[in-house]
Amino acid sequence: MARFTDRVAIVTGAGSGLGRATASRLAEDEAIVAVLDLNESAAADAAKDIEAAGGTARAYAVDVSDWASVEPAVAKVANDLGRPEVLVNCAGVGKFAHTEEETPESWNRIIGVNLTGTFLMCRGVLGHMLGGGGAIVNVASNAGLMGQPYSAAYCASKGGVVNLTRALGVEYRARGVRVNAVAPGGMNTDMISTWGFPERAKPKEFAGITSPIGYAEPEEIAGLISFVASDEGRYMIGQIVSMDGGITCG
Ligand SMILES: NC(=O)c1ccc[n+]([C@@H]2O[C@H](COP(=O)([O-])OP(=O)(O)OC[C@H]3O[C@@H](n4cnc5c(N)ncnc54)[C@H](O)[C@@H]3O)[C@@H](O)[C@H]2O)c1
Repeated sequence: MARFTDRVAIVTGAGSGLGRATASRLAEDEAIVAVLDLNESAAADAAKDIEAAGGTARAYAVDVSDWASVEPAVAKVANDLGRPEVLVNCAGVGKFAHTEEETPESWNRIIGVNLTGTFLMCRGVLGHMLGGGGAIVNVASNAGLMGQPYSAAYCASKGGVVNLTRALGVEYRARGVRVNAVAPGGMNTDMISTWGFPERAKPKEFAGITSPIGYAEPEEIAGLISFVASDEGRYMIGQIVSMDGGITCG
């Protein structure tokens, strides 16, 4: 679909999983894609794949949790590729922990990447979007809409992304920048395969946070992100759109 012809789209966390699938999907939809990731070689690899498939992409290294990294990265994208009109905040980290054992360092990292990182990237692109228009899609999670055991930092970070999205939706809705979030459930990516099961945890505690129909493929969620970011989603503002195999429906 030609949803984004000649528009510059920034995707963070685009070296892996959902970010990578989203970068590919937006390129198929004719965006010029800036592939941003902490992992520089993964970003380069993703951009190479997109180009090999006939799309347009360039890789950039960024640590979304650090303004000193975000500000120059966004400026470089704008200088190289043009004004960003789409931002998808996919970069994210998480792990299970018993909260009484969770370290402050781990808490700070999860909040720093998932929540502060989303804020910093939004702040970085807003100056480019105001005046010309734009769309931001943040990646929340079912964990931002419900309690999930052994995931205090992750739930807090994604709950923060949910209300950050609503706050920005209200603040910018009359100024040409739409801000929304998608909230996936479990997806088949590196993140889920590396979380592991917390020691001493009871499997039945996880029954409510996994869909009976299994995991989504990241490409399925990427299709939703493409729609929300496109002009077809024009009237969608400040929304949290769930795609989670029914985890949060009842
Ligand atoms: N996998 C799931 O089940 C699931 C479910 C709901 C929501 N999510 C969310 O989807 C998003 C993508 O997750 P995924 O499953 O594709 O994970 P992933 O681990 O496959 O990819 C995450 C990417 O983010 C990058 N990243 C990490 N820290 C970064 C930083 N400081 N700066 C820039 N990039 C950084 C990593 O290098 C990696 O390439 C995350 O926000 C995650 O919380 C995932």
